Amino acid sequence: MTSDPLIALRPWEAPEVTSWGRLPMNAVDRRSPALSLDGEWRFQLLPGPLAEPGPQWSSAQVPGAWTLQGTDDLPWYTNAQMPWGEFPPASPEANPTGVYEREVDVPAGWAGRRIVLQVGAAESVLLVHVDGQPVGVSKDSHLAADFDLSAVLRPGAVHTVRLTVVKWSDASHIEDQDQWWHGGITRPVLLYATDPLYLADVTVRTRLDGELRVDCKVRHASGPLPEGWCVTGELDTHLLVQDTELDRFNEEDGRVSDFLGEARLSTVVDDVRAWTAETPELYGLTVRLHRPDGTVADSSFHRVGFREVEIRGRDLLLNGERIYIRGVNRHDFHPLTGRTVSHADMRADLELLKRFGFNAIRAAHYPNDPSLLDLADELGFYVVDEADIEAHDHAHEIADDPRYLGAFVDRVSRMVLRDKNHPCVIIWSLGNESDYGANHDAAAGWLRRHDPTRPLQYEGAAKLDWADPALASDIACPMYAPVEDCVAHALSGDQTKPLIQCEYSHAMGNSNGTLADHWAAIESTPGLQGGFIWEFWDHGILQRVNDGRPAGRAGTGQYENGVAAPGYRWAYGGDFGEVIHDGVFIADGVVFPDRTPKPVMYEHREIAAPVRLTRDRGGLRISNHQHFQDLRWLAAEWSLALADGGTRTAPAELPDLGPGESASVPLPFALPENGGEAWLTLRVTTAEDQSWGPRGTEVCVPQVRLRAPDPVDPVRVPGEVEVDDDGLLVHPLLTSAPVLSLWRAPTDNDELGGMAARWHDWGLDTLVRKAVAVRREDGRVTVLAEYATGAGPVRHEQVFTRVEGGVRVEETAVLPDGLDDVARVGSVLETVAGLDVLEWFGQGPWESYPDRSSGVPVGHHTLPVAELFTPYLRPQESGGRHGVRRFTLSAPDATGLSVDLAEPCQVSVTRYRAEDLAAAAHHDELVPRPGCVVHLDAAHRGLGTASCGPDTSPSYLIAAGTHHWSWTLRVL
Ligand code: GAL
Ligand code: MG
Repeated sequence: MTSDPLIALRPWEAPEVTSWGRLPMNAVDRRSPALSLDGEWRFQLLPGPLAEPGPQWSSAQVPGAWTLQGTDDLPWYTNAQMPWGEFPPASPEANPTGVYEREVDVPAGWAGRRIVLQVGAAESVLLVHVDGQPVGVSKDSHLAADFDLSAVLRPGAVHTVRLTVVKWSDASHIEDQDQWWHGGITRPVLLYATDPLYLADVTVRTRLDGELRVDCKVRHASGPLPEGWCVTGELDTHLLVQDTELDRFNEEDGRVSDFLGEARLSTVVDDVRAWTAETPELYGLTVRLHRPDGTVADSSFHRVGFREVEIRGRDLLLNGERIYIRGVNRHDFHPLTGRTVSHADMRADLELLKRFGFNAIRAAHYPNDPSLLDLADELGFYVVDEADIEAHDHAHEIADDPRYLGAFVDRVSRMVLRDKNHPCVIIWSLGNESDYGANHDAAAGWLRRHDPTRPLQYEGAAKLDWADPALASDIACPMYAPVEDCVAHALSGDQTKPLIQCEYSHAMGNSNGTLADHWAAIESTPGLQGGFIWEFWDHGILQRVNDGRPAGRAGTGQYENGVAAPGYRWAYGGDFGEVIHDGVFIADGVVFPDRTPKPVMYEHREIAAPVRLTRDRGGLRISNHQHFQDLRWLAAEWSLALADGGTRTAPAELPDLGPGESASVPLPFALPENGGEAWLTLRVTTAEDQSWGPRGTEVCVPQVRLRAPDPVDPVRVPGEVEVDDDGLLVHPLLTSAPVLSLWRAPTDNDELGGMAARWHDWGLDTLVRKAVAVRREDGRVTVLAEYATGAGPVRHEQVFTRVEGGVRVEETAVLPDGLDDVARVGSVLETVAGLDVLEWFGQGPWESYPDRSSGVPVGHHTLPVAELFTPYLRPQESGGRHGVRRFTLSAPDATGLSVDLAEPCQVSVTRYRAEDLAAAAHHDELVPRPGCVVHLDAAHRGLGTASCGPDTSPSYLIAAGTHHWSWTLRVL
């Protein structure tokens, strides 16, 4: 039996113990003097917390997860289910426990000072020892724990600090978020010193009229608060008024002997520049604690934004304006380091989001790294800050379990105490997917009392009734609600709260269908204000293929453009040998694990466009869709794309428009008589350098059609097209003649939504063509084929005629009634090798699908075939382009083929057959075919979001019955 009380008390199975010896959380910014303890620590991994450390040490990097540093305890992915069977508050006996140890040389100059150890984050129970003595315990894996070590550290001496991290605990049951399980110390560790009399907390409150109020708390570590000390504040160069003297609560007054003092400072800033996500205006506030002789004993720096959040009626207002929340859910994630993320990485996340039109982040599902909020203040994002509480698997038991009551209040209050001064935080969240119980109401009660300046939300409460004011949610914040339900609620007359979905448009694989439909509804329905896409990251961990190990920091540079280098792959659930896991459900972000944007990001950018362009009688109308800014930060250029005449550009002058205003402008070009279909684009870029992108960064490309196409039938010429006895087209550039295709490699949505299984039951994935008739008459070859399916035969007719320069193919497919939801109806063909560049006139350049194509501009686009393919982690339907009118596929010597489509079609050109994609589990398993696989789809099913949430809407499904399409194939 161990004599160590920290171990003997088994805090890892005691939910009542949230901490011991830990200092209260606060918002004071501790920069100096500080000693970073990051770097190599002695390390050993024990099989459980009761095991005794041995003499053998290896080493581990702090901060960092040991699961990514060569131990045998590897990352483990589960979504809702716990990875083990113990019921709360128990944890399994096999419980990886990391012991980190190092010597710390305490600066001699810190004599007489108060010395504090800060551990940025540890998963999930932290036990602290100094020179073998127990000094503290902490839980709450995503917030810092501070311990006052003044009594055990001697300045000028060397001490041994041991941090023991127990991976599984009672706390794991409330940290059951949908993400990888790791173990380790994942944020920085440092030692800092303060005067014994120090600033214990600073609370900043602002008003839009420029009023600033700063409440300061002062503590004395070793006695009553002496007289003569004072607190001052400075906002940029502006001195704050001391409203109250440092009010001392000392023994003499008969009040608590808690050596506490409080002071309030204030000022009013004239002509204050308000903070919004569009205009992130910040002021620098320095608060100083002075000794009686005026010297500074302690100080804290804060960046202050003047803004007010309010719910009026059913509207969420920022500075009095009803704003749209164009949000995304963000986890702390890195493919090499897991939940350890650098400031530079977080800046890159936010800059990218800014470039793609996002203005809000939900810190899913725990307080993100503190840098995130600094960056959100600076770059301009609205943040829903969420407490680290997700009891998903055992939600119902835990929400009302009094043993967890303290943990709920602890986690919510510590988040608020840390983050309350950030202007970016506009809403607090009580956590995620934890049912709804008294523990939530307790936390909500603390929160409302402590911070009446912001609303709070909790999906678990809101889902019981979107409108009930008694529930612990000021926002109706459902997840994955069908857009029709949101609209119906807003129109019902019963709405009492702003409706902002905390999660919607699940980005797993090739997904996010109907995003534009959501936004069309949001922008046209008062009461709807937006939502947060699930989610930012595909959490693929870079893994070495040969030994299945995480690459860790050694993997730097081993990926590019969303793809892992040869010898590596993006691992998902099960790839580390987990027995219980949830597979590829971990890869559901709008960016790849290396932050390469997926195509949906571009559609989002257009949906969020600050500048809109519409037709206005003979001319055009430009409007400013921002809430707070004019258009002066933007520059623009016109470009006119003619189907038969290339592209021309002209400089554009953006009108002087305030938020919400619009103006008519004349057409910038006289439309040439010839040239066919014509599209006018306003390419909008940043006029100056922005904090998130240099001058010239593309912001949006709104577009209008100026002229519809004038369909011309190709001119028939004498002669007969070569078609073999089986009815297959013979062509020198085709290795496989066009045949019917009704199937696509199932997307994650198709798999999880049940469509893939239905298609399989129908046999669409293994269609066999049976030629029924080949008729040759009048220079026309008519081929009739039949394809048997589980829902009856599909008849497919192709009529081949010789036309100027090539072959015209007219196709008809008749789907029996039972075949009422297929993946596609179209032709598939394969080309000879060497045709590696696609040029097309149609929507692009980004990948697009019928329900993910809004705002994807029509124009002339060119891309290498390899770049058309989007490398979704689990291979699936990929690379499609919507609204393609014609294309050429060519070799470097300009030989190749062209296809003209009578009607715009969904086209894909890849090096993979659908069955190649469907057979592979990871992108690196794909072997490109020598030639191209070309799909010309008269109809292609929408993508929807059925992996979690609604399927696509009925208008994007493919009806049974007759489908026609025709096209002309030519040799270049
Ligand atoms: C939600 C949950 C998220 C994630 C998502 C599916 O229900 O809050 O954490 O699991 O579904 O990817
Ligand atoms: Mg969950």
